[in-house]
Amino acid sequence: MYLSREEEKLLESDNPTVAKSMEILVALGEIYGADRLVDIKSAHVSGISYQNIGDAGLEWLEGLNARVAVPTTVNPAGMDVIRWKEMGIDEGFYRKQMRILKALERIGAEMSLTCTPYYFSDVSKGDHLAWAESNAVIYANSVLGARTNRESGISAIAAGITGKTPRYGMHVKGNRAPNVLVKVGGDNASLIGYEIGKLLKHDEIPLIVADRKFSNDELKLMGAAMAATGNKAIFHVEGQTPEWDDFERPSEKLEIDVKEVEKTCEPDLVAIGCPHLSREELLRIVELLRGKKVKREFWVFTSRKLAEECRSIVESIERSGAKVFCDTCMVVSPATENFECVMVNSGKALEYIPKLRGVKAVFGSLEECIKVAIS
Ligand code: F3S
Repeated sequence: MYLSREEEKLLESDNPTVAKSMEILVALGEIYGADRLVDIKSAHVSGISYQNIGDAGLEWLEGLNARVAVPTTVNPAGMDVIRWKEMGIDEGFYRKQMRILKALERIGAEMSLTCTPYYFSDVSKGDHLAWAESNAVIYANSVLGARTNRESGISAIAAGITGKTPRYGMHVKGNRAPNVLVKVGGDNASLIGYEIGKLLKHDEIPLIVADRKFSNDELKLMGAAMAATGNKAIFHVEGQTPEWDDFERPSEKLEIDVKEVEKTCEPDLVAIGCPHLSREELLRIVELLRGKKVKREFWVFTSRKLAEECRSIVESIERSGAKVFCDTCMVVSPATENFECVMVNSGKALEYIPKLRGVKAVFGSLEECIKVAIS
């Protein structure tokens, strides 16, 4: 792989964190056949819950001794950093989680604690990024037309520190071409993404054809689910996403008509906000809850930045008895383990809650979830 003089200097840096970061990127580039490195506009680091990385990850982060060279945001942690007690998080976990956040802050990462960095980052079509967090990656590639591979937490930190990433995979235009045309029926975008992810083979990129347009919130839910069930990093939607007609139309065809998912348990927690909610989604919840009181635990997740910007919307949701938590979610927080069955409107959460939290999950549309929460 070609390295410029500046890149070679980073590789030989006296600072072991910088040299190691460069080594990681070069090794990745060589494994995946990159021809060179590209400059990135931003990095996004995932896997920062203490539940995920434990003491070994914490110590590794505390050992880093460099600052990031490009804007670097971070994914949700294992708790709301202010209302952690209300979530049922114990003090030992809180302290370790805060040490992780401090270590990330020390290298210059922004304490965004959200999986929707695309709401706050400056991203344009064609920009190279190094983002970890599968929903952010698929949204950036598919909806924004930016270019990022699915980084790991470590490679995203290495990219943030050097400002570079190896050019392979999604960074190369030709690798972004759809190779299967998927005609979809069914109303729920999250379920559509969930099914597409399950049905397509590992190397298949869909061009989705539907008889309606999807909102950006729907594309977010669809992509998150597809990335969770099918490891996808990009999809195209005919007439809608920025690169859908940049390539030859695939000849291979599939049809999907998505039905409801069977409900297998009675939820004691309803949780909305995977991925973290947008302003429009928060407003929709206000509308659905107007004049009503929730009768079981109802948790809503969004980024702290958005919650602060939309304080009156958040207050209005909480007047119903629902709780709006920030900095975390029902999948990465161990707090979910205090429940037996979680109802979600997210295909990604449906896939991951049983796997990562060992708790049963059932699916419903947003309207159905709220109906259950108030019943
Ligand atoms: Fe975000 Fe958590 Fe879902 S990090 S995409 S809300 S699993």
